Amino acid sequence: MKIELSDNKVFFENNGSKKEIHPFWLRERVNGESFVDKGTQQRLFDPTELKGNIEIKNVSLSDKFLEVAFNDGVETKLTIQSILNEFSNTNDVKFTDKIKWDSSLTNLNNFEFSKSIFEEKVMYDALISFYKYGFVIFKKVPTENDFIVKFANSIGSIRRTNFGEFFNVKSKPNPNDLAYTSLPLAPHTDNPYRNPVPCIQLLHCIENEVSGGYSTLVDGYTVTEKLKKDHPDYFNILTEIKVRYQFIDQDVVLEDWSEMIKLDENKNFKQVRFSPRLDFVPLMDKEKLDLYYAARNKISELYNSDKYRLEFKLVPGDLLMMDNYRLLHGRTSYDTNEGNRFLQGCYIDYDSTEGKLKHLKRKFKI
Ligand SMILES: [Fe+2]
Repeated sequence: MKIELSDNKVFFENNGSKKEIHPFWLRERVNGESFVDKGTQQRLFDPTELKGNIEIKNVSLSDKFLEVAFNDGVETKLTIQSILNEFSNTNDVKFTDKIKWDSSLTNLNNFEFSKSIFEEKVMYDALISFYKYGFVIFKKVPTENDFIVKFANSIGSIRRTNFGEFFNVKSKPNPNDLAYTSLPLAPHTDNPYRNPVPCIQLLHCIENEVSGGYSTLVDGYTVTEKLKKDHPDYFNILTEIKVRYQFIDQDVVLEDWSEMIKLDENKNFKQVRFSPRLDFVPLMDKEKLDLYYAARNKISELYNSDKYRLEFKLVPGDLLMMDNYRLLHGRTSYDTNEGNRFLQGCYIDYDSTEGKLKHLKRKFKI
């Protein structure tokens, strides 16, 4: 990537393709105290009030700087690096390479909690691991009631849902969700019926005295890639058909339509939703439904197979942070007569982790 000049025009060259940088694009980026507020980095002028026919009167380029004088009398000195950064994806969390994993994964991305962790380099490392693997486990987190709220709000902002600001996972009478029983929970994603679906789930183990109640995780990304390779027809239909996800209780009816495997604009993995207690496929031709049901059975078989399911026990003080767009989670059954099992959970969205990660990256000059 480099910047070039020709006839008072600025060009950006990348991989053999050369494009002119619009003069107005540069004019919007003028810096200096009278144009940008030092503290907030926000503009002190409104670019929509500038006249449209901005042109470059004079321009010069050195190793580090681009100096531009515009036809409205404004002059600026921009660093080449700041311009190149705008054309680079390296700062973008979306481009962190995901690492595929299955049940053979032995490193469970453990990070030891400390009071000051939210402003330390170790939190940066934990968040990078989170984006690579889709989960991390913080160890020795204080087992105080509601500490999960403090934890979540120290990374970003808690995302409230119909289950409240946070929820208590323990068996209780008349539950409105199977999570609040001692029954086993097959791998699933949470809240597929919400729009938008909460991005990240935090689950904090306060008590776990039972011999069962193991936590399970499955990498939806790994399974999706496997399905795409071995059964492209199943992959295609699950990325095409939007199904209705539904949650109903006494207070609310929540519904959202989405593909079971959602791809991004470049046809890459974006999100999986899986909760076969809550999904309703639209009525389609019999042949198409035959294919859809076969595809759903196959992906369910993969999600539930020993090959992909990681099984481990959360101990008091463990706080599991997992990507609800990428991973499926569940638990094995337990016997309430053996003792207490008490977890607290809540959600945060990607802007929380991305914002924290970029802040720590800036702070530690990474
Ligand atoms: Fe869940």
